[in-house]
Amino acid sequence: MARVAPVLSGIVRYGGLILLALGLVIWVASVSGLVALHMLIGILVVLALWLLALVYILAGSASLPLALGAFVVGLAQGVLGLTQERILPTTGHWVIQVAHLLLGLLLIGMGEMMTMRMKKARVAVAAK
Ligand code: HEM
Repeated sequence: MARVAPVLSGIVRYGGLILLALGLVIWVASVSGLVALHMLIGILVVLALWLLALVYILAGSASLPLALGAFVVGLAQGVLGLTQERILPTTGHWVIQVAHLLLGLLLIGMGEMMTMRMKKARVAVAAK
């Protein structure tokens, strides 16, 4: 369990940053050819976040609201990402884009919070 957490955490952290960079290129330069790659990495990152939340719960002393929040945010980002091209396609699409960006940042942040809390718990156990 202790070995798998850093791998999942790395996928969420670096995959999330790659998604952010790809997303901004898609948005600013309208490069639609990158959308499929972005979606593929996005699904991977959401799955890694869910597994990380599961590992976090199984590691004991988890904050349940944080773990459940990660499941919900991952689901929301996945559903939004898979449907957002069809939501408000003409006017007001920027609102959906901003919501997607904010959910993405939240998703990366929740991965970081769970990782940090697991590290702290491991240090506390080692110090006993
Ligand atoms: C950490 C997770 C993610 C981050 C930081 C992120 C970031 C972004 C950003 C900044 C954009 C450009 C703005 C926009 O069009 O909304 C974008 C576009 C897009 N993303 Fe993501 N994304 C993430 C996850 C996902 C996932 C999981 C999916 C789908 C499975 C997805 C699908 C899309 C699609 C289809 C677009 C283009 C949509 C459009 O032009 O309206 N993204 N993403």
